Amino acid sequence: MARIRVALLGASGSIGRQTADVISQWPDHFELVALASGRGGEGHQALVSAYPTATSLIGGNAEDLKKLALDTSPNIVVIATTGLVGLPATVAALEAGSAVAIANKETIVAGGEVVMQVARAAAQRTGSTLLERLRPIDSEHSALWQCLEGESFKRVRTLWITASGGPFREATAAEIADARPEQALRHPTWSMGAKITIDSATLVNKGLEAIEAHRLFGVGMDQIQILIHPQSVVHGLVEFQDGSTKSQMGSPDMRGPISFALGYPERMATSTPPIDLAAHGSLHFSPPDLTRFPGLAVALDAGRAGGAAPGALIAADGVAVDRFLEGDFPLGAIPQLLRDAVERYGVRPSPKSLSDVLALHEEVAAFATEWRGVW
Ligand SMILES: NC(=O)c1ccc[n+]([C@@H]2O[C@H](COP(=O)([O-])OP(=O)(O)OC[C@H]3O[C@@H](n4cnc5c(N)ncnc54)[C@H](OP(=O)(O)O)[C@@H]3O)[C@@H](O)[C@H]2O)c1
Repeated sequence: MARIRVALLGASGSIGRQTADVISQWPDHFELVALASGRGGEGHQALVSAYPTATSLIGGNAEDLKKLALDTSPNIVVIATTGLVGLPATVAALEAGSAVAIANKETIVAGGEVVMQVARAAAQRTGSTLLERLRPIDSEHSALWQCLEGESFKRVRTLWITASGGPFREATAAEIADARPEQALRHPTWSMGAKITIDSATLVNKGLEAIEAHRLFGVGMDQIQILIHPQSVVHGLVEFQDGSTKSQMGSPDMRGPISFALGYPERMATSTPPIDLAAHGSLHFSPPDLTRFPGLAVALDAGRAGGAAPGALIAADGVAVDRFLEGDFPLGAIPQLLRDAVERYGVRPSPKSLSDVLALHEEVAAFATEWRGVW
């Protein structure tokens, strides 16, 4: 049987390296045909040595990534980049008939209806489901996808996504607001890239994930709930109208969701350790505290508002996290910047095209770069 051709965008990053690891465990099943990274570095070079026939790209722009995703004729394109650099490649790959396995929530949140319409059309053209075409890698969305397999979406009452609570789960509002990068980068359960680690410290990440779930599963924002679950064992739960709830559990290891997305509909064996529930003894769940984590409230409000608000949120957050990491301001300034950006730009209608999405992104990013708040 022909091997599945995989193009990996964001190869040198946290998701990229774990994707390559899953692929390396199944050499007869997958062929890595393209590798793209930003700065490249040792991680990228190691993959180039391991896969000498793969086309390698370092430091390409969005158009270069799109060309790579088209020219190498992959069956699956993995979007493991940060920001929106992988957005045009996502749309082009779906249109060209590739499945897209997507870790990059920014593309789904900001790309919104533009991306979802292309994914729905691709599903219709190929007689497959939307999730088979646009396969979530984010662990919570993979969990929801796994729980929804074989179920009618019409019978869903609520989607629950879990959050570890990040490094400041038990911190006071003042401690969180004053936090500096070295504190915020210390995630208790997941090892991830810097941007998503900071988003996990502010819990903005959960707001982005709620919007991502709203788009991918076509349910209202009011049907999506968040649970703080410090052990990161349960990743997502689906509550059905008959009162039954299904959950998906697994170790906090992204190779699980990555292998589910790559192997779908098969389950691939991986080296991910199984969870030991007896060793855990008990699992804890509590509601999120929107007062201590105002960034989550801003993100959820942006999701409920719709229109340009989710795109404005993503653009402002990308800049806000960079500025925080550069020491421009403490963690508490991030929610303020996000709120200002969403209030200013979110009232606009939803972007209608890819170029509208990218134009909004640039405009809000420029605003966020110049933003001066009071803290
Ligand atoms: N890490 C996780 O566990 C996790 C979980 C769920 C969702 N996600 C999502 O997955 C995405 C990636 O996260 P991550 O944690 O893997 O981030 P990361 O470690 O920072 O990696 C980002 C990757 O994107 C690459 N990149 C940046 N600009 C590029 C360009 N112009 N062309 C090609 N590649 C480029 C980087 O290359 P260089 O480093 O070489 O510059 C790097 O390989 C994010 O959207 C995140 O929210 C991540």
